[in-house]
Amino acid sequence: MEISISVNGTQTSGDVAPRTLLVHYLRENLGLTGTHVGCDTGYCGACTVSVDGRTVKSCTMLAVQADGRSVDTIEGVANGEDLHPVQEGFWECHGLQCGFCTPGMIMSSIALLEDNDDPSEEEIRHGIEGNLCRCTGYHNIVRSVQYAGAKMRGEDPSGSVTGGGIVSTTSVMGGIVRRKEDPSLIQGNGACSSMTSDATVSLQLHSCGVRSQRRPSQASTHQTR
Ligand code: FES
Ligand code: FES
Repeated sequence: MEISISVNGTQTSGDVAPRTLLVHYLRENLGLTGTHVGCDTGYCGACTVSVDGRTVKSCTMLAVQADGRSVDTIEGVANGEDLHPVQEGFWECHGLQCGFCTPGMIMSSIALLEDNDDPSEEEIRHGIEGNLCRCTGYHNIVRSVQYAGAKMRGEDPSGSVTGGGIVSTTSVMGGIVRRKEDPSLIQGNGACSSMTSDATVSLQLHSCGVRSQRRPSQASTHQTR
C-alpha cells in the first residue's frame, strides 16, 4: 500500500505491506534508527514517537494508520546543533547509560513537560511509567526531566534537581563530567557509538566482532568435564 507520512517536517512516502508497523517503516524504510524496538509488545516504550502531537508506541501502530499524519521522532527533536532542554537534561544529569531506552524516554518526557513544565517528582515518575529503563534506576532520569523543566521555565536548573549537584562544566577533578558518547545517543544516532542494532551495512567501511576470551581457570574447568 502506498502511504505518505510527514516525518520530522519532511514528507515521506513508501509502498508498505499492510502489516508493516510504524516503527519498522521509520527504521527500515526511512533509516531513522533512533526509534528502538525493545519488546515489540507495547510494554517497554523504546519505540515511543509523537503522532499528531500525541505520544504513541510505534510498535503498536501500523504504518498505514499513520498515513496522512505528522510523526516526530528523536531525530527531529534537536534544532540543528541546539539540543532540546530534555536532551540537555539527560546529558547533564546522567539520565542514560547504554542509551537504548533514551529516545523513547526523551519523547515521553517532552510530552510530559509540554503538558506541565513544573511537574512534581511523583508526576514525572507517573508520566514516564510507560517507558522502561534497565540501567539507570530512574533516579537520574527524574533529575533530567526536572533539569529540563527548569530550563523551559527560564530558571536555573541547579536549584530544581533532586539531590542538587548537576554536571560541572568547569571542574574535572572531583567533579562530574559529561560523557562524550551521550550526544549521539540522545539524538537517536546510536549507531555512531554502540548500538549494533542501529548499524546498517551500507554505511559501514568495515566492521568486526569482538568477544571476551574465557578466563584460563574457567577454560580448564570446562575442559575437565
Ligand atoms: S518496542 Fe514498542 S513498546 Fe517495546
Ligand atoms: S539507559 Fe540503558 S536501558 Fe535505559
